[in-house]
Amino acid sequence: MKNDTAYIRELASLAPIIPVLVVDDVADAVPLAQALVQGGLPVLEVTLRTPAALDVIAAMAGVAGARVGAGTLVTAADVTAAKAAGSTFGVTPGSPAAVVDACLAAGLPLLPGAATATEAMTLHARGFEVLKFFPAEGAGGITTLKGLGGPLPDISFCPTGGVSPGNARDYLALPNVVCAGGSWIAPLDLVKAGDWDEIERRARTAAALPR
Ligand code: 3PG
Repeated sequence: MKNDTAYIRELASLAPIIPVLVVDDVADAVPLAQALVQGGLPVLEVTLRTPAALDVIAAMAGVAGARVGAGTLVTAADVTAAKAAGSTFGVTPGSPAAVVDACLAAGLPLLPGAATATEAMTLHARGFEVLKFFPAEGAGGITTLKGLGGPLPDISFCPTGGVSPGNARDYLALPNVVCAGGSWIAPLDLVKAGDWDEIERRARTAAALPR
């Protein structure tokens, strides 16, 4: 089965930042997604790191305008569960063949994780043109992305991991960066506090970042 780069490119075109979400309580799912969509960030990565994550995905999938995906896919079983919950895309921190194969078999468009030239080339050879560069800061950040852009100009990246309001603009200015991911828009403390106004404000600021 083919991978769906076109869908991932469409997602990347919708907003400069993909909020990375860790949600403990399914009751927070709808107001959180509404705040982010309202703020101009419709593409949402819900990490499978809490027991509630699959229910959160299912609830957010019903929010008008939201494009909900599952992050932290680390097993083939995660892929099956994420798809069944209503995810329209998946995100992985790294890209073992078993997880990539599971996404292809499930028809789940994938933003696959890569941190090195070899990983990026291996994924590109399988047809993936947009990759999550993770962990962005730990793997060399902007310097590494500039280095990869020379020999691998056809590969685009969504850096995630250490991207912040202080450096997002510089990442987004790179020619091989199509969007970036980050948790600062909706960190767990703001979600637990139900501070949807502050989350919407952060989303609005992030959505206005140039690229
Ligand atoms: C993650 O998977 O947690 C993301 O990489 C988010 O990283 P951040 O918290 O540094 O934005």
